[in-house]
Amino acid sequence: MAQKYLNFTVSESEGEQSLPILDGTLGPSAVDVQPLYNKHGLFTFDPGFRATASTKSAITFIDGDAGILLHRGYPIEELAEHSHFTEVAYLLMFGELPDAAELAKFEASLNMHNLLHEQVLSFYRGFRRDAHPMAVMVGVVGALSAFYHDVMDIQNPADRVHAAIRLIAKMPMIAAASYTYSIGRPQRYPLGKLDYSSNFLQMMFGRPTDEYQVDPVLGRAFDVILMLHADHEQNASTSTVRMAASSGANPFACIAAGIASLWGPAHGGANEAVLKMLTEIGSVENIPRAIARAKDKNDSYRLMGFGHRVYRNFDPRSRVIQAQAKKVLAHIGKDDPLLEVAVRLEEIALKDDYFVERKLYPNVDFYSGILLRAMGFPTNMFTAVFALGRTAGWVSHWLELQQESHGIDRPRQLYVGKTLRHYPTAPVRRTASK
Ligand code: CMC
Repeated sequence: MAQKYLNFTVSESEGEQSLPILDGTLGPSAVDVQPLYNKHGLFTFDPGFRATASTKSAITFIDGDAGILLHRGYPIEELAEHSHFTEVAYLLMFGELPDAAELAKFEASLNMHNLLHEQVLSFYRGFRRDAHPMAVMVGVVGALSAFYHDVMDIQNPADRVHAAIRLIAKMPMIAAASYTYSIGRPQRYPLGKLDYSSNFLQMMFGRPTDEYQVDPVLGRAFDVILMLHADHEQNASTSTVRMAASSGANPFACIAAGIASLWGPAHGGANEAVLKMLTEIGSVENIPRAIARAKDKNDSYRLMGFGHRVYRNFDPRSRVIQAQAKKVLAHIGKDDPLLEVAVRLEEIALKDDYFVERKLYPNVDFYSGILLRAMGFPTNMFTAVFALGRTAGWVSHWLELQQESHGIDRPRQLYVGKTLRHYPTAPVRRTASK
Protein backbone atom coordinates (compact mmCIF):
# COMPACT_ATOMS: atom_id res chain seq x y z
CA MET A 1 0.00 0.00 0.00
CA ALA A 2 1.23 3.51 -0.83
CA GLN A 3 2.64 5.47 2.09
CA LYS A 4 0.14 8.09 3.34
CA TYR A 5 1.14 11.51 4.64
CA LEU A 6 -0.40 14.25 6.71
CA ASN A 7 0.26 17.53 4.92
CA PHE A 8 0.44 20.82 6.79
CA THR A 9 1.89 24.30 6.58
CA VAL A 10 4.14 25.54 9.39
CA SER A 11 4.92 28.91 7.83
CA GLU A 12 4.63 30.50 4.43
CA SER A 13 8.40 30.43 3.90
CA GLU A 14 8.65 26.69 4.60
CA GLY A 15 5.66 25.83 2.40
CA GLU A 16 3.75 22.58 2.67
CA GLN A 17 5.34 19.87 4.78
CA SER A 18 4.31 16.29 5.34
CA LEU A 19 4.45 13.68 8.07
CA PRO A 20 4.22 9.94 7.41
CA ILE A 21 1.08 8.15 8.59
CA LEU A 22 1.68 4.72 10.13
CA ASP A 23 -0.98 2.02 9.86
CA GLY A 24 -1.43 -0.72 12.42
CA THR A 25 -3.42 -3.91 11.87
CA LEU A 26 -6.49 -2.54 13.73
CA GLY A 27 -7.51 0.81 15.18
CA PRO A 28 -6.60 4.39 14.31
CA SER A 29 -3.47 5.08 12.30
CA ALA A 30 -0.77 7.25 13.85
CA VAL A 31 1.08 10.27 12.53
CA ASP A 32 4.84 9.90 12.92
CA VAL A 33 5.61 13.27 14.50
CA GLN A 34 9.34 12.71 14.93
CA PRO A 35 10.28 14.98 11.98
CA LEU A 36 8.37 17.86 13.62
CA TYR A 37 11.15 18.50 16.10
CA ASN A 38 14.03 17.43 13.92
CA LYS A 39 12.95 19.59 10.99
CA HIS A 40 10.84 22.35 12.53
CA GLY A 41 11.86 22.54 16.21
CA LEU A 42 8.27 21.82 17.28
CA PHE A 43 7.09 19.47 20.00
CA THR A 44 3.64 17.89 20.05
CA PHE A 45 1.54 18.76 23.12
CA ASP A 46 -0.74 16.06 24.47
CA PRO A 47 -1.02 16.14 28.28
CA GLY A 48 -2.35 12.84 29.59
CA PHE A 49 -1.45 11.18 26.26
CA ARG A 50 -5.05 11.31 25.08
CA ALA A 51 -4.04 11.25 21.41
CA THR A 52 -0.60 9.70 21.57
CA ALA A 53 0.50 6.20 20.61
CA SER A 54 3.57 5.90 22.84
CA THR A 55 4.80 2.69 21.22
CA LYS A 56 4.00 -0.07 18.75
CA SER A 57 2.64 -3.16 20.47
CA ALA A 58 1.26 -6.51 19.29
CA ILE A 59 -0.15 -7.68 22.63
CA THR A 60 -3.58 -6.15 23.27
CA PHE A 61 -6.08 -4.21 21.16
CA ILE A 62 -8.94 -2.09 22.51
CA ASP A 63 -11.69 -0.45 20.48
CA GLY A 64 -13.16 1.81 23.13
CA ASP A 65 -16.13 2.94 21.02
CA ALA A 66 -17.22 -0.59 20.19
CA GLY A 67 -16.33 -2.03 23.63
CA ILE A 68 -13.87 -4.57 22.20
CA LEU A 69 -10.84 -6.00 24.00
CA LEU A 70 -8.58 -8.52 22.22
CA HIS A 71 -5.50 -10.27 23.59
CA ARG A 72 -3.25 -11.35 20.70
CA GLY A 73 -6.43 -11.22 18.61
CA TYR A 74 -8.66 -13.29 20.91
CA PRO A 75 -11.75 -11.55 22.42
CA ILE A 76 -11.67 -11.29 26.20
CA GLU A 77 -15.16 -12.83 26.46
CA GLU A 78 -13.96 -16.01 24.69
CA LEU A 79 -10.84 -16.24 26.82
CA ALA A 80 -12.88 -15.71 30.00
CA GLU A 81 -15.23 -18.48 28.99
CA HIS A 82 -12.86 -21.11 27.61
CA SER A 83 -9.35 -20.39 28.82
CA HIS A 84 -7.62 -20.05 32.18
CA PHE A 85 -5.19 -17.57 33.66
CA THR A 86 -1.88 -19.36 33.10
CA GLU A 87 -2.82 -20.05 29.49
CA VAL A 88 -3.70 -16.37 29.00
CA ALA A 89 -0.38 -15.38 30.64
CA TYR A 90 1.43 -17.64 28.15
CA LEU A 91 -0.56 -16.13 25.27
CA LEU A 92 0.29 -12.59 26.36
CA MET A 93 3.98 -13.38 26.83
CA PHE A 94 4.63 -15.47 23.72
CA GLY A 95 1.91 -14.41 21.27
CA GLU A 96 0.20 -17.77 20.64
CA LEU A 97 -1.91 -20.16 22.67
CA PRO A 98 0.26 -22.98 23.98
CA ASP A 99 -0.23 -26.62 22.96
CA ALA A 100 -0.60 -29.14 25.81
CA ALA A 101 3.15 -29.77 26.15
CA GLU A 102 4.03 -26.06 26.06
CA LEU A 103 1.41 -25.30 28.69
CA ALA A 104 2.59 -28.15 30.93
CA LYS A 105 6.18 -26.89 30.67
CA PHE A 106 5.13 -23.30 31.40
CA GLU A 107 3.05 -24.30 34.42
CA ALA A 108 5.89 -26.50 35.70
CA SER A 109 8.23 -23.47 35.51
CA LEU A 110 5.69 -21.38 37.41
CA ASN A 111 5.51 -24.09 40.08
CA MET A 112 9.29 -24.29 40.22
CA HIS A 113 9.50 -20.58 41.10
CA ASN A 114 6.42 -20.02 43.24
CA LEU A 115 8.19 -19.93 46.60
CA LEU A 116 9.62 -16.82 48.21
CA HIS A 117 13.10 -16.84 49.64
CA GLU A 118 12.64 -17.09 53.42
CA GLN A 119 14.60 -13.87 53.76
CA VAL A 120 11.94 -12.15 51.66
CA LEU A 121 9.27 -13.37 54.07
CA SER A 122 11.25 -11.83 56.92
CA PHE A 123 10.94 -8.40 55.22
CA TYR A 124 7.26 -8.35 56.06
CA ARG A 125 8.07 -7.95 59.74
CA GLY A 126 9.51 -4.52 58.95
CA PHE A 127 6.11 -3.21 57.86
CA ARG A 128 3.47 -1.92 60.24
CA ARG A 129 0.92 -4.68 60.47
CA ASP A 130 -1.86 -2.31 59.41
CA ALA A 131 0.05 -1.27 56.26
CA HIS A 132 -1.98 -1.27 53.05
CA PRO A 133 -1.23 -4.48 51.07
CA MET A 134 -0.32 -2.39 48.01
CA ALA A 135 2.31 -0.53 50.06
CA VAL A 136 3.74 -3.88 51.12
CA MET A 137 3.66 -5.22 47.56
CA VAL A 138 5.49 -2.20 46.13
CA GLY A 139 8.19 -2.74 48.76
CA VAL A 140 8.50 -6.51 48.53
CA VAL A 141 8.46 -6.74 44.72
CA GLY A 142 11.02 -3.95 44.50
CA ALA A 143 13.13 -5.79 47.08
CA LEU A 144 13.20 -8.90 44.88
CA SER A 145 15.57 -6.98 42.61
CA ALA A 146 18.11 -7.35 45.42
CA PHE A 147 17.80 -11.14 45.05
CA TYR A 148 17.76 -11.49 41.28
CA HIS A 149 19.99 -8.78 39.86
CA ASP A 150 23.46 -10.21 39.32
CA VAL A 151 22.03 -13.58 38.30
CA MET A 152 20.27 -12.21 35.23
CA ASP A 153 21.58 -10.72 32.02
CA ILE A 154 18.92 -8.43 30.59
CA GLN A 155 20.48 -8.85 27.12
CA ASN A 156 19.87 -12.61 27.24
CA PRO A 157 16.35 -13.59 26.00
CA ALA A 158 16.28 -16.78 28.10
CA ASP A 159 17.18 -14.82 31.26
CA ARG A 160 14.43 -12.34 30.47
CA VAL A 161 11.78 -15.05 30.16
CA HIS A 162 13.11 -16.56 33.39
CA ALA A 163 12.64 -13.21 35.21
CA ALA A 164 9.11 -12.84 33.79
CA ILE A 165 8.19 -16.35 34.97
CA ARG A 166 9.63 -15.67 38.42
CA LEU A 167 7.48 -12.56 38.71
CA ILE A 168 4.21 -14.26 37.75
CA ALA A 169 5.08 -17.28 39.92
CA LYS A 170 5.94 -15.39 43.09
CA MET A 171 3.17 -12.81 43.01
CA PRO A 172 0.47 -15.03 44.64
CA MET A 173 2.58 -15.66 47.73
CA ILE A 174 3.68 -12.00 47.87
CA ALA A 175 0.04 -10.84 47.77
CA ALA A 176 -1.25 -13.49 50.18
CA ALA A 177 1.53 -12.76 52.67
CA SER A 178 0.70 -9.04 52.60
CA TYR A 179 -2.70 -10.07 54.01
CA THR A 180 -1.72 -12.89 56.39
CA TYR A 181 0.99 -10.69 57.92
CA SER A 182 -1.62 -8.01 58.65
CA ILE A 183 -3.76 -10.49 60.60
CA GLY A 184 -0.79 -12.23 62.22
CA ARG A 185 -1.45 -15.63 60.68
CA PRO A 186 1.55 -17.77 59.62
CA GLN A 187 1.86 -17.92 55.85
CA ARG A 188 1.02 -21.15 54.02
CA TYR A 189 3.14 -22.29 51.11
CA PRO A 190 1.96 -23.02 47.55
CA LEU A 191 1.00 -26.65 46.91
CA GLY A 192 2.27 -28.43 43.80
CA LYS A 193 -1.06 -30.17 43.20
CA LEU A 194 -3.10 -26.96 42.86
CA ASP A 195 -3.57 -24.60 39.94
CA TYR A 196 -2.41 -20.98 40.10
CA SER A 197 -5.69 -19.44 41.31
CA SER A 198 -6.56 -22.19 43.80
CA ASN A 199 -3.07 -21.89 45.23
CA PHE A 200 -3.52 -18.20 45.83
CA LEU A 201 -6.88 -18.80 47.52
CA GLN A 202 -5.49 -21.46 49.87
CA MET A 203 -2.53 -19.22 50.77
CA MET A 204 -4.87 -16.29 51.34
CA PHE A 205 -7.62 -17.98 53.34
CA GLY A 206 -6.21 -21.26 54.69
CA ARG A 207 -4.82 -21.83 58.19
CA PRO A 208 -1.49 -23.63 58.25
CA THR A 209 -2.95 -26.06 60.79
CA ASP A 210 -5.81 -27.36 58.63
CA GLU A 211 -6.55 -28.76 55.20
CA TYR A 212 -8.04 -26.10 52.97
CA GLN A 213 -10.42 -27.17 50.22
CA VAL A 214 -10.83 -24.58 47.49
CA ASP A 215 -14.45 -24.38 46.35
CA PRO A 216 -14.23 -25.02 42.56
CA VAL A 217 -16.84 -22.35 41.75
CA LEU A 218 -14.84 -19.76 43.68
CA GLY A 219 -11.60 -21.06 42.19
CA ARG A 220 -12.98 -20.60 38.67
CA ALA A 221 -14.46 -17.18 39.50
CA PHE A 222 -11.09 -16.05 40.80
CA ASP A 223 -9.34 -17.37 37.71
CA VAL A 224 -11.79 -15.36 35.57
CA ILE A 225 -10.98 -12.25 37.64
CA LEU A 226 -7.27 -12.75 36.94
CA MET A 227 -7.91 -13.24 33.21
CA LEU A 228 -10.03 -10.08 33.04
CA HIS A 229 -7.27 -8.05 34.67
CA ALA A 230 -4.34 -9.64 32.84
CA ASP A 231 -3.66 -6.84 30.37
CA HIS A 232 -5.12 -3.61 29.05
CA GLU A 233 -2.60 -2.14 26.57
CA GLN A 234 -0.82 1.13 27.44
CA ASN A 235 -2.66 2.06 30.66
CA ALA A 236 -0.91 4.12 33.37
CA SER A 237 0.75 1.21 35.20
CA THR A 238 1.86 -0.59 32.02
CA SER A 239 3.23 2.65 30.59
CA THR A 240 5.03 3.15 33.92
CA VAL A 241 6.57 -0.32 33.66
CA ARG A 242 7.64 0.38 30.07
CA MET A 243 9.10 3.75 30.93
CA ALA A 244 11.01 2.38 33.92
CA ALA A 245 12.23 -0.50 31.74
CA SER A 246 13.37 1.82 28.93
CA SER A 247 16.41 2.76 31.02
CA GLY A 248 17.42 -0.91 31.32
CA ALA A 249 16.30 -1.12 34.96
CA ASN A 250 15.90 -4.40 36.82
CA PRO A 251 12.56 -6.08 35.92
CA PHE A 252 11.48 -6.53 39.55
CA ALA A 253 12.04 -2.81 40.15
CA CYS A 254 10.05 -2.02 36.97
CA ILE A 255 7.09 -4.12 38.12
CA ALA A 256 7.24 -2.46 41.55
CA ALA A 257 6.86 0.87 39.72
CA GLY A 258 3.81 -0.55 37.92
CA ILE A 259 2.26 -1.63 41.23
CA ALA A 260 2.75 1.90 42.60
CA SER A 261 0.97 3.40 39.60
CA LEU A 262 -1.86 0.87 39.77
CA TRP A 263 -2.63 1.75 43.38
CA GLY A 264 -4.30 5.10 42.60
CA PRO A 265 -8.12 5.38 42.73
CA ALA A 266 -8.31 6.51 39.09
CA HIS A 267 -6.70 3.18 38.09
CA GLY A 268 -6.60 -0.14 40.00
CA GLY A 269 -7.57 1.43 43.30
CA ALA A 270 -11.05 2.07 41.87
CA ASN A 271 -12.31 -1.40 42.86
CA GLU A 272 -11.70 -0.54 46.51
CA ALA A 273 -13.23 2.90 46.01
CA VAL A 274 -16.36 1.38 44.40
CA LEU A 275 -17.07 -0.72 47.44
CA LYS A 276 -16.55 2.24 49.75
CA MET A 277 -18.94 4.26 47.59
CA LEU A 278 -21.61 1.53 47.53
CA THR A 279 -21.30 1.10 51.29
CA GLU A 280 -21.71 4.85 51.82
CA ILE A 281 -24.76 4.91 49.53
CA GLY A 282 -26.06 1.98 51.56
CA SER A 283 -29.52 1.61 50.06
CA VAL A 284 -31.44 2.27 46.86
CA GLU A 285 -33.21 5.41 48.24
CA ASN A 286 -29.83 7.19 48.54
CA ILE A 287 -28.86 6.66 44.89
CA PRO A 288 -30.37 9.93 43.52
CA ARG A 289 -28.26 11.93 45.98
CA ALA A 290 -25.09 10.13 44.87
CA ILE A 291 -25.95 10.73 41.21
CA ALA A 292 -26.61 14.42 41.90
CA ARG A 293 -23.26 14.75 43.67
CA ALA A 294 -21.42 13.01 40.78
CA LYS A 295 -22.97 15.53 38.36
CA ASP A 296 -22.23 18.59 40.50
CA LYS A 297 -19.21 20.43 39.07
CA ASN A 298 -18.53 21.98 42.49
CA ASP A 299 -18.22 18.56 44.12
CA SER A 300 -15.18 16.37 43.43
CA TYR A 301 -17.33 13.25 44.02
CA ARG A 302 -17.34 10.80 41.06
CA LEU A 303 -19.21 7.59 40.53
CA MET A 304 -16.37 5.15 41.07
CA GLY A 305 -16.37 2.24 38.63
CA PHE A 306 -17.89 4.49 35.94
CA GLY A 307 -16.10 5.94 32.95
CA HIS A 308 -12.88 5.01 31.26
CA ARG A 309 -10.22 6.87 29.35
CA VAL A 310 -10.54 4.47 26.40
CA TYR A 311 -14.01 2.88 26.57
CA ARG A 312 -16.85 5.11 25.43
CA ASN A 313 -19.12 2.08 25.64
CA PHE A 314 -19.51 -0.87 28.01
CA ASP A 315 -16.20 -2.18 29.24
CA PRO A 316 -16.55 -5.79 27.96
CA ARG A 317 -14.96 -7.01 31.19
CA SER A 318 -17.76 -5.47 33.29
CA ARG A 319 -20.43 -7.76 31.81
CA VAL A 320 -18.34 -10.89 32.45
CA ILE A 321 -17.60 -9.84 36.01
CA GLN A 322 -21.22 -8.94 36.75
CA ALA A 323 -22.27 -12.45 35.63
CA GLN A 324 -19.57 -14.00 37.83
CA ALA A 325 -20.69 -11.91 40.83
CA LYS A 326 -24.27 -13.11 40.43
CA LYS A 327 -23.13 -16.72 39.97
CA VAL A 328 -20.93 -16.69 43.07
CA LEU A 329 -23.61 -15.03 45.23
CA ALA A 330 -26.15 -17.63 44.10
CA HIS A 331 -23.64 -20.43 44.73
CA ILE A 332 -22.83 -19.38 48.27
CA GLY A 333 -26.50 -18.60 48.90
CA LYS A 334 -25.76 -15.07 50.07
CA ASP A 335 -27.66 -11.91 49.25
CA ASP A 336 -25.46 -8.86 49.14
CA PRO A 337 -27.57 -5.71 49.55
CA LEU A 338 -24.74 -3.82 47.82
CA LEU A 339 -25.38 -5.83 44.64
CA GLU A 340 -28.90 -4.41 44.53
CA VAL A 341 -27.51 -0.90 45.06
CA ALA A 342 -24.96 -1.49 42.28
CA VAL A 343 -27.53 -2.84 39.79
CA ARG A 344 -29.95 0.06 40.45
CA LEU A 345 -27.17 2.64 40.36
CA GLU A 346 -26.06 1.30 36.97
CA GLU A 347 -29.64 1.37 35.64
CA ILE A 348 -30.25 4.93 36.82
CA ALA A 349 -26.90 6.26 35.62
CA LEU A 350 -27.26 4.68 32.17
CA LYS A 351 -30.52 6.58 31.66
CA ASP A 352 -29.22 9.89 32.97
CA ASP A 353 -28.31 12.50 30.32
CA TYR A 354 -25.09 13.47 32.13
CA PHE A 355 -23.68 9.94 31.85
CA VAL A 356 -25.21 9.26 28.42
CA GLU A 357 -23.75 12.44 26.87
CA ARG A 358 -20.30 11.76 28.30
CA LYS A 359 -20.47 8.06 27.36
CA LEU A 360 -19.77 6.98 30.92
CA TYR A 361 -20.41 3.25 31.35
CA PRO A 362 -19.53 0.78 34.12
CA ASN A 363 -15.93 -0.38 33.94
CA VAL A 364 -14.32 -3.61 35.21
CA ASP A 365 -14.11 -2.26 38.75
CA PHE A 366 -17.82 -1.65 39.15
CA TYR A 367 -18.70 -5.27 39.97
CA SER A 368 -15.29 -6.73 40.83
CA GLY A 369 -15.48 -5.44 44.41
CA ILE A 370 -18.84 -7.14 44.97
CA LEU A 371 -17.45 -10.40 43.62
CA LEU A 372 -14.29 -10.21 45.69
CA ARG A 373 -16.27 -9.33 48.80
CA ALA A 374 -18.56 -12.32 48.22
CA MET A 375 -15.45 -14.49 48.06
CA GLY A 376 -14.30 -13.19 51.44
CA PHE A 377 -11.65 -10.70 50.40
CA PRO A 378 -11.15 -7.69 52.66
CA THR A 379 -11.55 -4.41 50.75
CA ASN A 380 -7.88 -3.45 50.99
CA MET A 381 -6.88 -6.62 49.09
CA PHE A 382 -8.94 -5.76 45.99
CA THR A 383 -6.20 -3.78 44.26
CA ALA A 384 -3.61 -6.40 45.25
CA VAL A 385 -5.72 -8.95 43.33
CA PHE A 386 -5.72 -6.59 40.32
CA ALA A 387 -1.91 -6.43 40.58
CA LEU A 388 -1.72 -10.21 40.70
CA GLY A 389 -3.57 -10.53 37.38
CA ARG A 390 -1.90 -7.53 35.73
CA THR A 391 1.59 -8.92 36.39
CA ALA A 392 1.07 -11.16 33.32
CA GLY A 393 0.50 -8.06 31.18
CA TRP A 394 3.31 -6.05 32.75
CA VAL A 395 5.91 -8.74 32.14
CA SER A 396 4.66 -9.27 28.58
CA HIS A 397 5.09 -5.56 27.83
CA TRP A 398 8.47 -5.64 29.52
CA LEU A 399 9.53 -8.54 27.27
CA GLU A 400 8.16 -6.81 24.16
CA LEU A 401 10.00 -3.61 25.00
CA GLN A 402 13.30 -5.46 25.41
CA GLN A 403 12.92 -6.95 21.93
CA GLU A 404 12.07 -3.70 20.21
CA SER A 405 13.67 -1.12 22.43
CA HIS A 406 13.73 2.37 20.98
CA GLY A 407 16.12 3.56 23.67
CA ILE A 408 15.28 5.42 26.84
CA ASP A 409 11.87 7.12 27.00
CA ARG A 410 12.36 10.83 27.42
CA PRO A 411 9.25 12.99 26.94
CA ARG A 412 9.75 16.72 26.50
CA GLN A 413 7.61 19.58 27.82
CA LEU A 414 6.07 22.92 27.02
CA TYR A 415 8.06 25.13 29.39
CA VAL A 416 5.94 27.82 31.06
CA GLY A 417 8.35 28.94 33.82
CA LYS A 418 10.57 32.02 34.20
CA THR A 419 12.78 33.08 31.35
CA LEU A 420 16.52 33.55 31.94
CA ARG A 421 17.38 35.80 34.89
CA HIS A 422 20.57 36.30 36.87
CA TYR A 423 21.46 35.44 40.42
CA PRO A 424 21.25 38.67 42.51
CA THR A 425 24.54 39.97 43.87
CA ALA A 426 22.77 42.04 46.57
CA PRO A 427 20.68 40.30 49.32
CA VAL A 428 17.08 39.60 48.31
CA ARG A 429 14.58 41.70 50.26
CA ARG A 430 10.91 40.84 50.15
CA THR A 431 8.28 43.26 51.29
CA ALA A 432 6.00 41.49 53.77
CA SER A 433 2.54 40.94 52.32
CA LYS A 434 -0.22 42.57 54.32
N1 CMC B 1 -18.40 10.20 37.61
C1 CMC B 1 -18.86 11.42 37.24
N2 CMC B 1 -18.37 12.11 36.19
C2 CMC B 1 -17.40 11.56 35.49
C3 CMC B 1 -16.85 10.29 35.81
C4 CMC B 1 -17.41 9.61 36.91
N3 CMC B 1 -16.93 8.41 37.25
N4 CMC B 1 -15.86 9.98 34.94
C5 CMC B 1 -15.77 11.02 34.10
N5 CMC B 1 -16.69 11.98 34.42
C6 CMC B 1 -16.96 13.23 33.70
C7 CMC B 1 -15.88 14.27 33.97
O1 CMC B 1 -16.23 15.08 35.09
C8 CMC B 1 -15.88 15.03 32.68
O2 CMC B 1 -17.02 15.89 32.67
P1 CMC B 1 -16.93 17.32 31.90
O3 CMC B 1 -16.74 16.98 30.46
O4 CMC B 1 -18.24 17.96 32.20
O5 CMC B 1 -15.78 18.06 32.50
C9 CMC B 1 -16.12 13.96 31.63
O6 CMC B 1 -16.86 12.93 32.31
C10 CMC B 1 -14.86 13.36 31.05
O7 CMC B 1 -14.05 12.92 32.13
P2 CMC B 1 -12.48 12.84 32.10
O8 CMC B 1 -11.94 13.04 33.49
O9 CMC B 1 -11.92 13.71 31.03
O10 CMC B 1 -12.27 11.35 31.68
P3 CMC B 1 -10.90 10.64 31.73
O11 CMC B 1 -10.82 9.84 30.50
O12 CMC B 1 -9.78 11.56 32.00
O13 CMC B 1 -11.01 9.74 33.04
C11 CMC B 1 -11.42 7.98 34.49
C12 CMC B 1 -11.24 8.39 33.03
C13 CMC B 1 -11.49 6.46 34.55
C14 CMC B 1 -10.18 8.42 35.32
C15 CMC B 1 -12.71 8.64 35.05
O14 CMC B 1 -13.82 8.22 34.28
C16 CMC B 1 -12.91 8.31 36.53
O15 CMC B 1 -12.36 9.00 37.38
N6 CMC B 1 -13.72 7.25 36.83
C17 CMC B 1 -13.88 6.81 38.19
C18 CMC B 1 -12.68 6.00 38.63
C19 CMC B 1 -12.65 4.62 38.00
O16 CMC B 1 -13.65 3.93 37.97
N7 CMC B 1 -11.44 4.22 37.54
C20 CMC B 1 -11.24 2.85 37.01
C21 CMC B 1 -10.88 2.85 35.57
S1 CMC B 1 -11.03 1.21 34.88
C22 CMC B 1 -9.81 0.28 35.63
C23 CMC B 1 -8.46 0.53 35.10
O17 CMC B 1 -8.26 0.29 33.91
O18 CMC B 1 -7.61 0.93 35.89
